[in-house]
Amino acid sequence: MRGATAAAILALFVLQGCDGHEAAAPVELDQRLAEIYNHTCATCHTDAETGAPQAHDIAAWKPRLAQGDDVLLDHMVEGFNGMPPLGQCIECGADDLKALMHFMAAPAAKTPPEKTSEEKTSEEKTKKGDAE
Ligand code: HEC
Repeated sequence: MRGATAAAILALFVLQGCDGHEAAAPVELDQRLAEIYNHTCATCHTDAETGAPQAHDIAAWKPRLAQGDDVLLDHMVEGFNGMPPLGQCIECGADDLKALMHFMAAPAAKTPPEKTSEEKTSEEKTKKGDAE
């Protein structure tokens, strides 16, 4: 089971590529990471008042992702301004942190996808009539 999950996570990284451009598809977390996420990252990354780039806010993550995974990993492990070392996840390894980061930087999986900047522009025009 673990092996299959690890393979799935690996596949996600392969699909996303390493060239820094954002992933368009949602990233799913396995149950272990989902629990970790809820207890650690989500406490800040779903609370705008903390100053953290908000989960699934594509625009907020874009310039962060542009730094490249190595810099981002370093900032996650060492901490970066308001970002605490390891994001308060003491059991997280590098792959866990990167998976959590890519989860937050990608559109949400189960709720309607967050708007990309292009969609946002067109959606703003239709917003008033949006009954859903
Ligand atoms: C105590 C609040 C807090 C927690 C918990 C937290 N973060 Fe953050 N994180 C922040 C803040 C605030 C920033 C913005 C720092 C800045 O740019 O000044 C940030 C930034 C980041 C960045 C971008 C760093 C960069 O170089 O731009 C990544 C990646 C990140 N967090 C990942 C995570 C992950 C993964 C977790 C969970 C394991 C996590 N964070 C948990 C507060 C938190």
